Amino acid sequence: MALKILLDCDPGLDDALALLLAHGDPDIDLVAVTTVGGNVSLEKTTRNALELREFLGFSDVPIAAGAGEPLSGPVKSAEHVHGEDGLGNVILPKATLTASDSHAVDLIIETLRAAPGEIHLVATGPLTNIALALRRDPSIVDLVASFTIMGGSYSRGNATPAAEFNIYADPDAAAEVFAAGWQVTMVGLDLTLQAIVDEGIVDRMHELGRLGVELIAPLATFWTNPLDDEWDGQALHDVCAVAYVARPDLFTTKPARVEVELVGEFTRGMTVVDFHSDRPNAIVPMRLDVPGFWNYVHDAWGNVQPNV
Ligand code: BDR
Ligand code: CA
Repeated sequence: MALKILLDCDPGLDDALALLLAHGDPDIDLVAVTTVGGNVSLEKTTRNALELREFLGFSDVPIAAGAGEPLSGPVKSAEHVHGEDGLGNVILPKATLTASDSHAVDLIIETLRAAPGEIHLVATGPLTNIALALRRDPSIVDLVASFTIMGGSYSRGNATPAAEFNIYADPDAAAEVFAAGWQVTMVGLDLTLQAIVDEGIVDRMHELGRLGVELIAPLATFWTNPLDDEWDGQALHDVCAVAYVARPDLFTTKPARVEVELVGEFTRGMTVVDFHSDRPNAIVPMRLDVPGFWNYVHDAWGNVQPNV
């Protein structure tokens, strides 16, 4: 039976590629998509999700918009990475179908309640929607089959020296989510920086024909880091979170206790990871089988027949 996934995301270059993976893998049943403000505004992440849905051909999957700003503090976005509109230079046909009338938080709760123990919840943006869902119905911690995020790190940050972007964008939400009493699989930067799009990977993307040349490779190569002399290519962070759910055999993991720093002047949004705690609340993927990962992702993307 296919793995049921609900993806909460902020597309976003790598969120778009994660959606493409969830749709393309025949062993995944993408049951719902919810959007959150993050990389770009909620309006834009939702528009991107709607356009991707129609273009990639999963129009039967509901999409609901959620929170446009963090639980507290200013909105932090990442146009400098993902482009003004969130998908780099990619322009998709305008969507003709609209988002669901439900709020993302309601769709998350309803979807989990309708299939207790069956849905793998995956979050690849700031954790605002998930925290609001937990506030509304704390029992969802027992309803998920699993909960996986892309976010955090045990070494360094990318939004600041200490904090990874998804946690930095809403640290209060992240703190509530890690404290909720469920097991969080934290696919953090230390893992995702192993999934680098180098020239050989771009060549393989091009082998996928128009989808590879016109959508996948442009999404996977838009961001080039002007501050890093040793830049090898973009990391497909969010793709790793979906891949973990479907192919955990490609990852080695360690249990840990993760706390989110909320008050540090220079460290707000840092994930403090204790691998020696006797009260673990997280599983932390450490090492990726890189060739196995790319083979898996390449095959799944190759199954997608876009509506061109
Ligand atoms: C994360 O931040 C976002 O910019 C990406 O989409 C990814 O979810 C990486 O730190
Ligand atoms: Ca994201």
